[in-house]
Amino acid sequence: MLAVLVKLSLVAGFLLMLHFGDGYLNAGAWTAAVHGLILAAVAAFALWGGFHHMRTAGAHGAGERGIGIVLHRAVGYDLLARVLTWGREDRFREFMLRLARLQPGEAMLDVACGTGTLAIAARRLVGAVGRVTGVDASVQMVERARVKATRAGVDLTFVQATAQELPFEDGQFDIVIGTLMLHHLPKPDRSTFFREAERVLKPGGRLLLIDFRRPLHESRLPRLHRHGHIDMNAVGTLLVETGFRVDDTGAVGTMNLDYVRATTDKILPA
Ligand SMILES: C[S@@+](CC[C@H](N)C(=O)[O-])C[C@H]1O[C@@H](n2cnc3c(N)ncnc32)[C@H](O)[C@@H]1O
Repeated sequence: MLAVLVKLSLVAGFLLMLHFGDGYLNAGAWTAAVHGLILAAVAAFALWGGFHHMRTAGAHGAGERGIGIVLHRAVGYDLLARVLTWGREDRFREFMLRLARLQPGEAMLDVACGTGTLAIAARRLVGAVGRVTGVDASVQMVERARVKATRAGVDLTFVQATAQELPFEDGQFDIVIGTLMLHHLPKPDRSTFFREAERVLKPGGRLLLIDFRRPLHESRLPRLHRHGHIDMNAVGTLLVETGFRVDDTGAVGTMNLDYVRATTDKILPA
């Protein structure tokens, strides 16, 4: 709420300054007021996804209640992603997919896939023989993902399900990906998710996790989007406990994102 007030006051202050300075386009107080209202409405609409997320998640909440921080405003989420990536979400997703090293013919599972942007981008990388499946706990996110896939003319499956209980048989996927989702899971459920990922992966299957690292200096300024942070070294320890071998961790190279790549220790049946 503080962020909304600060931003709207800035817009109003700027307009008043113009009005009492040289006159707002020399057109009088009514024009200034109408422009102010329009600007405020546009700003409120553009920022709504972020504020809703803040309200749902808390400032740095790791969602210690229920199944996690489940998002419902799918259109708002896409809008927020566009704003935060300066309109270059495709490039942002490319950074992530490069780390996945997808091969034609592979089966990929995107857990907590949101509105499916990453899964849709991954689809062309696995080719005609490969397959991509996305799951999210939110009906609204899954519905929007399906609409986007249809619009993009790609064949994908989106299922409403939780990371803690993946509705798939054992050993179905070559790779499981989870982007910007660990900070949405309650801490005790993260190892449940890793065990599920291990179960649905084929022997030698890969896991790629990407999430926000804690910045060195926390800004006190109101921000458009607040979210939790993940320590990938701690995640690495949990992964080893749940049947993975950690391959590497590092910075994704965009925003303050870190990644961890791991491989399941499962043995091929003789
Ligand atoms: C920040 S979004 C990330 C979405 C997507 N992976 C991306 O990179 O844009 C986090 C997603 O996790 C979903 N989520 C939260 N808890 C979940 C759970 N327990 N199981 C599955 N999805 C969950 C939310 O509904 C939301 O879509």
